[in-house]
Amino acid sequence: MADSTATATPETTTDGMRRRDFIDVAAVSAAGIGGLAVLYPLISQMAPSKDVLAASSTEVDVSSIEPGQAIKATFRKQPLFIRRLTPAEVAAANATPAGSLRDPASLADRTKEGHEDMLVTMGVCTHLGCVPLGAAEGENKGEFGGYFCPCHGSHYDTAGRIRKGPAPTNLEVPEYTFTSDTTIQVG
Ligand code: FES
Repeated sequence: MADSTATATPETTTDGMRRRDFIDVAAVSAAGIGGLAVLYPLISQMAPSKDVLAASSTEVDVSSIEPGQAIKATFRKQPLFIRRLTPAEVAAANATPAGSLRDPASLADRTKEGHEDMLVTMGVCTHLGCVPLGAAEGENKGEFGGYFCPCHGSHYDTAGRIRKGPAPTNLEVPEYTFTSDTTIQVG
């Protein structure tokens, strides 16, 4: 006659969990921890290193730029224009109602507070990507005194805003900050 009393077999723990269940759970947990351990270096490799971040930003000393002058720099392999406006160029930009423009923006919108005379834009026409004239001494600045793109005749004003020609939007103002009164970091 068979004994009907339940006894713990080697496959059964005292709380009713089968030993195989326990082994399975333990194996999955170990795999999970192993998975995380593998994942972390992968994620940390995907984050940009300090070297890459440094290469993707540009620091420029703007102290030598005189009013009315501009310099050309490079930001992420593209031309960057940094221009110190004269008081007359600031006044011309501020005299134009932003709402009347194709791509409405004020000079204050496009510069940093306390540095409204320092215009930082990409030197890339927003029509088809030519490099506008106007940053170098003696170059054609167009009908509005800013930049002129000779490819198809886009004219930008002293705030780098599109005023005439086929370009749809203003010259792009990249992300930048003044790290001191005389230095900007772009990107
Ligand atoms: S690329 Fe500048 S006007 Fe066409």
